[in-house]
Formats: sequence, C-alpha cells, structure tokens
Amino acid sequence: MGRNNILIFDSGVGGLSVFKEIYRRLPHDNYFYLFDNEAYPYGELSQSILIERTCRLINQMMDEQPIDIVVIACNTASTVVLPHLRSQLSIPVVGVVPAIKPASLISTKAVGLIATPATVSRQYTRDLIRDFAPEKEVVLLGSTRLVEMAEEKLRGFPIDLTELQQVLNSLIGQIDVAVLGCTHFPLLKQEISTVLGDDVVLVDSGSAIAKRVAYLLGEGSIQQEKGELRAFCSAPPFEEEALNQSLKTFSFSPIEHFPLRGV
Ligand code: DGL
Repeated sequence: MGRNNILIFDSGVGGLSVFKEIYRRLPHDNYFYLFDNEAYPYGELSQSILIERTCRLINQMMDEQPIDIVVIACNTASTVVLPHLRSQLSIPVVGVVPAIKPASLISTKAVGLIATPATVSRQYTRDLIRDFAPEKEVVLLGSTRLVEMAEEKLRGFPIDLTELQQVLNSLIGQIDVAVLGCTHFPLLKQEISTVLGDDVVLVDSGSAIAKRVAYLLGEGSIQQEKGELRAFCSAPPFEEEALNQSLKTFSFSPIEHFPLRGV
C-alpha cells in the first residue's frame, strides 16, 4: 500500500501536538504541516475571515499536493469551518473540538475549559457543554497569552511560571479536570500541570483525533522508510531559525513559505 498524504492545518505550532499523536500511529505516511501565521492568532479573528482563509489555504495546498485527508488541528477553526470545507472537498476532513465529554465523565468537582477567547465564546462550545456536561460546573478561561507562550516555547524561550500562574489564576483550586481546548496547550502540558497541581487531570483531543485519522485511512503505509515531512507557513515566522530547530525534533524539514494567493 502506498503512503498517505496527510495535511495538518493550524494557525501556528499548536497542530504539532496533534501531529505527534497521528505520527505515533502512522509513522510511514507523508505529512504536510500548514500553518496560517499571517492571520495568527485565530482566537481573535472574525468567523468570516477564519472560514475564508482556512478554506482558501487548504484548497491552494490541495492544488499542489495529492492530499488524502485534511486534519484541522485547531479548535478555534474547527468550531466554524468544518461544514464549509466538507462541502468543498471530496476527501475526509477531521476536526478537533474541546474534550468536554471525556472530562465530564471523570470529573467529580468542576471542569475547567482552557481555550482561545473565540472558542470559549462560540455557540458550538456552549452546545458541547449543554450536551455532554449538563450537570457539571464548567469554568471557562479564554487566553491568547497562553497561545503565545506555546509559540515562544517552541522557539526556545523559557516559560515564566509566575506569569502562567497569573493566566490560570481563576482555575487554581477550583477544578479537578482541565480541558486543553486549544491545540497549542498540550505543548505546555507540564508547565500547566505544575501550576494547577498534580491532582488536576489534563485532557486533550489529540489521541482521539489520531485514532479517527488512522481509522479513516485504514492501516496506513507499510513501507520500511519514514515518509516525507514538510512544513509550510503563510508568512515569514518570527525566530524562523529557532522554530526550524524545534520542527527538526519532530522530523520536519525546514519551513517552506506558502503565501495565500490573491483571488
Ligand atoms: N491552535 C488553535 C486552537 O486550537 C488556535 C490558536 C490561535 O491562533 O489563537 O484553537
């Protein structure tokens, strides 16, 4: 069986947390990691711009590469773009939404939802809470600073735990389960755990997404050699060299520039 070509999309480095889970299951496939850093942070964009950019960039990549499956590794985009993309594409499109359901099943106190400002305010998220955690107290925390901290960490900047504590302050001592409802946040899992305490369980959707992708693609490729791993950005990223070093640890080759083309 030939290699699958898997397109993973996010606004920045967050999708790497999802990539890691998929790659663990499907190490011999080809990966195209595309991030729209020109319009980052997505958590502060209007829905119409988010839908337009995501659809255009993905279609543009599909014009150039024989993609078999698209993974929207961004909660913020997934809450609004999935129906649009699915109506445009004839290949599977997998999205990621906050893991409210599994969190609610294990919580005996209160659930914290840590996500972007857009995700915590979306109707989609309110519906998830209504449907899957109706009896639970869910404390919402929308933060762009936390997204930035993950971007900085992947460029080698140290994480200031005092600042992280200030960002997470409203959750400390209040919850027993925290949903990492933005794909950037599993990249800060250790630091978040240090601040919230070991007794707070952190849940994210990465492994569930990987399971879904592996199911949709079948067994994946059975080649001996690893596949090709390429990363693309819509604008020159800050600290590009440092970011390339991090991407290398995920086995990606240096970033290629992939600007959004005009209409
Ligand atoms: N990684 C994204 C998410 O899962 C969005 C981060 C951002 O650009 O605000 O929501």
